Amino acid sequence: MRPEVYRFFADLVQKHSGIVLKEEKAYLIESRLRELARALNYRDVDQLYQMASKRLTPQLRDEIIEAMTTNETYFFRDQHPFEALRKEVIPELKKLRAKEKELRFWSAAASTGQEAYSIAMIIHEYFPELLSWRLQILATDISREALKKGEKGAYSQIEVNRGLPVTFLVKYFKQNGSKWVVSEKLRRLITFRKLNLVDPLPPTLGKFDVVFCRYVLIYFSPEVKAKVLQNIARVMKPKGYLFLGATESPQGLPAGFKRKMIGRTICYQWEG
Ligand SMILES: C[S@@+](CC[C@H](N)C(=O)[O-])C[C@H]1O[C@@H](n2cnc3c(N)ncnc32)[C@H](O)[C@@H]1O
Repeated sequence: MRPEVYRFFADLVQKHSGIVLKEEKAYLIESRLRELARALNYRDVDQLYQMASKRLTPQLRDEIIEAMTTNETYFFRDQHPFEALRKEVIPELKKLRAKEKELRFWSAAASTGQEAYSIAMIIHEYFPELLSWRLQILATDISREALKKGEKGAYSQIEVNRGLPVTFLVKYFKQNGSKWVVSEKLRRLITFRKLNLVDPLPPTLGKFDVVFCRYVLIYFSPEVKAKVLQNIARVMKPKGYLFLGATESPQGLPAGFKRKMIGRTICYQWEG
């Protein structure tokens, strides 16, 4: 790929999604662009570039960003945050919100939904009394394709083999052909919605008791990461919890978040 072509796509993706495409990954970027060019019936990446640089429609822009997202995820990823939810976070919030009887969770880079469904399974399995509360798990992502799959809730054998205990598979999924389809009782707890984390958060988003923002900030520059974390701070309910990915640094985290170690996971409680 010619350097100016790489630069054009890297700048476009960074401007609109925050995702920094590193130069050493140029081969990966090229292969994804090649696939996109083929899918859109362009001759090659160069023709896609000609088109995008001359007349970039919002739809083409979104397709390019979509092609650059990494949607890797699995059920109960890292385990420990879900243990923390079960053992401390939900029990504490249950007491704190006993009057309002409302709990809102946000999977802020939900990809294909496994994180949101994992939260739903924790609630169903260990806190059935909360099912009579106003309960919502909001699952958002920049990738429409990923969200579509999450909303469908149909996973392959390989996907359910990753992280999902077999007891939960049997209890919360039904086999349909080669897919495992999530049960309605979990799905009804979750709302899927497209949301770009680098845009100002819509006022209709409301506030959250628990935010999972895992393995997405790693794709952003330090400045964008700090901006996203500030935006998240604005939608935290008092004493709400934020979870980042296990390997992610809290650099840029607003001071109102207090670091807390629960079991083997680190999370951040909003005291601001
Ligand atoms: C590696 S996945 C992480 C999924 C899940 N949180 C987990 O930990 O398993 C990263 C997700 O971030 C999404 N993403 C990337 N940039 C985004 C942005 N600006 N706004 C919202 N989502 C974004 C991607 O589409 C992708 O689905």
